Amino acid sequence: MDIIKYTLSENQMPTAWYNIQADLPAPMPPVLHPGTRGLITGADLEPLFPSELIKQEVSIERWIEIPEEVQSIYRQWRPTPLYRARRLEKALDTPAKIYYKYEGTSPAGSHKPNTAIPQAYYNKIAGTKRLTTETGAGQWGSSLAVAGAFFGLEVVVYMVKVSYHQKPYRRAFMESYGASVIASPSNETESGRKILEQYPDSTGSLGIAISEAVEVAVQDDRTKYALGSVLNHVLLHQTVIGLEALAQLEQAGDYPDIIVGCTGGGSNFAGIAFPFMGNKLRGDRDIKFVAIEPAACPTLTKGKYAYDFGDTAHLTPLVKMHTLGSSFVPQGFHAGGLRYHGMAPLLSHVVELGLIEPKAYKQLDCFAAGLTFARAEGILPAPEANHAVKGAIDEALRCREEGIGKTILFNLCGHGHFDMQAYMDYEAGLLRDTEYSNQEIAMALAGLPVIA
Ligand SMILES: Cc1ncc(COP(=O)(O)O)c(C=O)c1O
Repeated sequence: MDIIKYTLSENQMPTAWYNIQADLPAPMPPVLHPGTRGLITGADLEPLFPSELIKQEVSIERWIEIPEEVQSIYRQWRPTPLYRARRLEKALDTPAKIYYKYEGTSPAGSHKPNTAIPQAYYNKIAGTKRLTTETGAGQWGSSLAVAGAFFGLEVVVYMVKVSYHQKPYRRAFMESYGASVIASPSNETESGRKILEQYPDSTGSLGIAISEAVEVAVQDDRTKYALGSVLNHVLLHQTVIGLEALAQLEQAGDYPDIIVGCTGGGSNFAGIAFPFMGNKLRGDRDIKFVAIEPAACPTLTKGKYAYDFGDTAHLTPLVKMHTLGSSFVPQGFHAGGLRYHGMAPLLSHVVELGLIEPKAYKQLDCFAAGLTFARAEGILPAPEANHAVKGAIDEALRCREEGIGKTILFNLCGHGHFDMQAYMDYEAGLLRDTEYSNQEIAMALAGLPVIA
């Protein structure tokens, strides 16, 4: 019998997250204070995050235990299945073996609850009453809304205005769990009002929404801020994906030659890749890691590796990352979760160490790949995940040309059930490819902070 799904039982779910910082050949550059530009301290971060998350942010321990309360909620949908894409392999007529880890089975439909649950948990035990956050595609806001409902926390989501209008059902989803959703830029914050004065028609950006959420959090002791990607502790929580995939591939008697994922802020990619990368760094088999980003927001392929702010109003700490500049407002293309000006410092660092090959794809090619996948495998991917699908298909087609049967693993990080407007626009020929010009890049990068 040809096995399609590799599943683990609940008692085979990982009980610790993997921290790649323990295995890095070079330490990460330090995080700097946005005002003094000196080294940041844990105390500087306390208005934003509970102490357990701050500890995880700087930890170099290889394994960090997943609290039982978090594990028991993970078990609502984890372990997630690993599929062997036999029907896609056949459709592509490739000698490659293609596996995908499917994170769309979570309550929000993506990988994002893997970190929303522990973030809400650590906040709850620290006495936090309210969480503020940003959301692009709505996946992260949905995940935090679910987590807030589980732990009895109030959740306020600043949703990038273009997505707020493109995705009304995501908004309704968040509100169903009791969250408040505000279109960003809004008139409710100083940062939002400043943007609206200058650009009354602003469609918003993740950078602006982050500024609004951070501003509200720092003004109230009982409110903290939660981020859906980029930070070390977020990437850490996502490693449950790769750890499960390792065990599932062992069941299949396989090991990947190539791992592919899409990158917005870097968390789902790190989640699937880091446990395997850790093996490689500790001397195990070599793997090619391919990170796919949108050509319209080419952070890794065209951005600069430099210190920058995580938000537009410059309220966040300064981190060294691949960036297009914090003033960059990406076009309203449909993979809303990939429209961020920066990249996780940890992923950026690993790219600088030469461990990852980044690539940029145009959205029309990604939608076409997503439909090929859906018609073969039956799952309609999120527009973000289509980037990974296209990356995996390209690798499989290369195998066909070269006549080599490599093993490809990719992360199908979410389903596209709330993205039907995007698919309708694609089918109607209304979507356009936009590329970010070198001139625009130069302009955005000209505003990077100067660090002595
Ligand atoms: C389905 C999906 N995939 C990918 C991303 C990008 O984020 P990250 O790179 O942190 O996984 C998002 C972000 O919202 C998302 O919703």
